[in-house]
Amino acid sequence: MRAGQICAFPTETVYGLGADATNADAVLRVYEAKGRPRFNPLIVHCTDLAMARKLVVFSPLAEKLAAEFWPGPMTLVLPLRAESGIADIVTAGLSTLAVRIPAHPMARELIADAGTPLAAPSANPSGRLSPTRAAEVISGFEGKIPVLDGGPCHAGLESTILTVAEDKVVQLRAGALAREDVAAALGTDVAMAGKGSVIAAPGMLLSHYAPKAGIRLNAEVPRAGEAYLAFGATPETDGPMRNLSPTGDLREAARNLFTCLHELDALGLKEIAVAPIPDQGLGEAINDRLSRAAAPRDPEVVA
Ligand code: TXA
Ligand code: MG
Repeated sequence: MRAGQICAFPTETVYGLGADATNADAVLRVYEAKGRPRFNPLIVHCTDLAMARKLVVFSPLAEKLAAEFWPGPMTLVLPLRAESGIADIVTAGLSTLAVRIPAHPMARELIADAGTPLAAPSANPSGRLSPTRAAEVISGFEGKIPVLDGGPCHAGLESTILTVAEDKVVQLRAGALAREDVAAALGTDVAMAGKGSVIAAPGMLLSHYAPKAGIRLNAEVPRAGEAYLAFGATPETDGPMRNLSPTGDLREAARNLFTCLHELDALGLKEIAVAPIPDQGLGEAINDRLSRAAAPRDPEVVA
């Protein structure tokens, strides 16, 4: 990492593809490896608050969120400091920076040893399913990217992205930290971007997290020729099936989501039918990923 190379590493959410965030050439290698559009900025990973404070300005409300949820699956979009040293390509020219302090010990050790904040998007080719196991990173990049293997990711969904506007918290991306939990900790509502809000994360493309197969949502039962992704009770079927959580536990479902999709997709069927998932708690983020996986694909982004 110190020499400007890139490497995939585990976090508690998904595997990230990391580069020294102060080295533009290194960060460019990440965009190139992923085939990621340059207008889509990256999250910068820090070991601790002292490192994060050198990069962005924390308002009192941002301080409160950091104290409550870091280290953990929360990303904060905050005003970038002029003297941060972060390469421009990381923010795609924005005046804000997305920062996160991951909880995974291997991620923390890597950042500390590198001695620099690491810019890291999820370690998948752009538009594809996110990886929650080292083997998924290896197959996604056909073995061309080195991977630190930390076992399966605990949360299995990307971090929740929040921004702080004056005295309000806005959720830019649903993720592994449920919006209800943020609201409960703050004692206020957390608005969702896009629903009556002008703030948005530039990378929230409609088609994303896409398997090769098509996705049919809210399917109570599979049709002939479809693979099935169940949640809770398992319907009768002769076809291939995975169950996100036989007991209907949303946390377990989040952890299994991408791996189940990777496994069903590897069978090469045309369509994966997915059971209805309740929209509360982590269900909000699961349904966000599924609806993007089901969206018509932009050939430029998904190729
Ligand atoms: O859990 C995660 O967040 C994983 C792990 C590796 O940390 N990372 C991840 O990165 O999901 P990525 O690149 O797949 O998603 C980053 C998201 C994109 O939607 C991007 O547009 C948004 O963060 N983002 C980054 N900087 C931003 C900024 N300054 N303002 C608004 N959105 C930003
Ligand atoms: Mg991603």
